[in-house]
Amino acid sequence: MLTKESFILLRDFIYEKTGIFFAENKTYLMESRLTNRLSEHGFSTYEDYYYFLKYGGEKSKSEMLSLFDAVTTNETSFFRNPPQLDAFKMIMQKHYFDGKGAGTQLRIWSAASSTGEEAYTLVIILLDMMEKLKRNISFTVVATDISPKVLESARKAVFGSYSVRNIDEAIRKKYFVEEGGVFKLKDIVKKHVKFDFMNLMDANAYRMYRQMDVIFCRNVLIYFDDKMKKKVIDNMYECLKLPGFLTIGHAESLHNLSRAFKPLVFPGTTTYQKG
Ligand SMILES: C[S@@+](CC[C@H](N)C(=O)[O-])C[C@H]1O[C@@H](n2cnc3c(N)ncnc32)[C@H](O)[C@@H]1O
Repeated sequence: MLTKESFILLRDFIYEKTGIFFAENKTYLMESRLTNRLSEHGFSTYEDYYYFLKYGGEKSKSEMLSLFDAVTTNETSFFRNPPQLDAFKMIMQKHYFDGKGAGTQLRIWSAASSTGEEAYTLVIILLDMMEKLKRNISFTVVATDISPKVLESARKAVFGSYSVRNIDEAIRKKYFVEEGGVFKLKDIVKKHVKFDFMNLMDANAYRMYRQMDVIFCRNVLIYFDDKMKKKVIDNMYECLKLPGFLTIGHAESLHNLSRAFKPLVFPGTTTYQKG
């Protein structure tokens, strides 16, 4: 059983390493997330596990990655929240197909990408726009996450029916090969995305993701407290070019977190612009 003392030790440790904050009413959730970690190492108490994480030297370094896998929630799907994707299309059309950005190398970052559906959706949208508009633009997408397990799965790009449920059938047939009940993404989409480990808590790591045109950072801020949210948003601001566009989760808001971004209102959604 997870005692109150061990809960607090682990909660503070997890927060310090990931920014993920388990509120007091999430004790049971933490207990169920970590129970496998304890049994894998043969610990009988959560306190033992905590001391191992904190003082276990080299061994605890690799355990840290399993801890990240265990404490993260990785729910995602293709074409999640269509109004946000329609807004993305409008921005692409205005700034990068027709506007000043046309002819430049477009750089997109899917931060907290989970198993890759978000990043691959953006690629499919761009490929489709290019075909319809009979125009080529040059773009790269980098997708990052703190969980090695989801990154491994993202690179494989093989998806179950739940993940592809919102994809228009014509698009699905065009970009996936269905085989034995799973959907394998074609290379024409896969080749545009590079997956990297990146912890949004690590201020130094943002240096690798500068000069972005577009950042999608959806459905991850909800796991952070306000201090961490603010840190992430300030860092994202620095990572964007001018003009640069930030999309956060549908249920998330920059209210009280940043005044630097300009809200752009689209049907059913708000996107944020730098400058
Ligand atoms: C619910 S998923 C969101 C996936 C996708 N962005 C979407 O909206 O469909 C949240 C992701 O955030 C990642 N995450 C949580 N804390 C993180 C951190 N400190 N740094 C980077 N990624 C983190 C999790 O591993 C998880 O894959």
